[in-house]
Amino acid sequence: MSFGATHLLGIETLSPAEIVSLLDLSESYVNLNRRDVKHSEALAGLTQINMFFEASTRTQASFELAGKRLGADVMNLTMQASSIRKGETLIDTAMTLNAMHPDLLVMRHPNSGAVNLLAEKVNCAVVNAGDGRHEHPTQALLDALTIRRAKGRLHRLRIAICGDIAHSRVARSNILLLGKMENRVRLIGPPTLMPSGVADWGVEVFSDMRAGLEGADVVMMLRLQKERMDGAFIPSEREYYHRFGLDAAKLAMAAPDAIVMHPGPMNRGVEIDGTLADDINRSVIQDQVEMGVAVRMAAMDLLARNLRAARQRDGVMV
Ligand code: NCD
Repeated sequence: MSFGATHLLGIETLSPAEIVSLLDLSESYVNLNRRDVKHSEALAGLTQINMFFEASTRTQASFELAGKRLGADVMNLTMQASSIRKGETLIDTAMTLNAMHPDLLVMRHPNSGAVNLLAEKVNCAVVNAGDGRHEHPTQALLDALTIRRAKGRLHRLRIAICGDIAHSRVARSNILLLGKMENRVRLIGPPTLMPSGVADWGVEVFSDMRAGLEGADVVMMLRLQKERMDGAFIPSEREYYHRFGLDAAKLAMAAPDAIVMHPGPMNRGVEIDGTLADDINRSVIQDQVEMGVAVRMAAMDLLARNLRAARQRDGVMV
């Protein structure tokens, strides 16, 4: 098993071999999660604390289920938006929690880089559950597992990521992962929603949805991240749906067996047609949710193995 990391902060620092190891282990957790008794002892005796400073349904629920199915003691801290103050407050919170000897800290935070800061301050494994518009590594890994299972491979695929790229940590982590695995990534969206410097990312950029979707094997849709927008980036949602919303007519430009993905939460009728999102012949959105639990189990299992090994080396009782 080739996975040397102490923390999972982003895709940027993972090697292709580490990505493959994590996905391979995830497969065994997919099987476990489909059984009646979904239990393993991989995290037995360890304490996992989830700190979500931003709203979350699937990510928080799946980290909690993942920890519980692996036998950890899991605690969810409810972080009120009003208590968020950058810098000192976060460090104080981190030091307080650190004194309680957690083994895994899972954090989502609106500020890019906040999770890296946390990792510097504590002596346990830290998992990034999404930091600002920076990274969301477990989302990219669950997307990769979903693609690999649907397409039978994770290389040489034409993958279109569509919508609000500029504000999306999901897009950033996916671009990094899919690039490392040698896929051809296309970004589609209005120029106002493309990040600056996108020309250096090794991707193709389209502002015409039909042209961008041509021959795509995978179509990944993104939500308009209004909470990260200061001002208006689109003329209207109606106009946006007309030009960039995925419906059957636009999807017809993609490969006949193209799959449709969305990380959720979805805004039906804004970035995607509701009927298409529910079409089990095209949409793998529910598979993504299922893979999310398995990938988070694999990630925390691998981090816990490295944590135990490091503590053993340092002579700490394990
Ligand atoms: C995404 C996120 O929070 O970055 N959601 C998720 O984790 N499934 C995408 C989004 O909020 O649009």
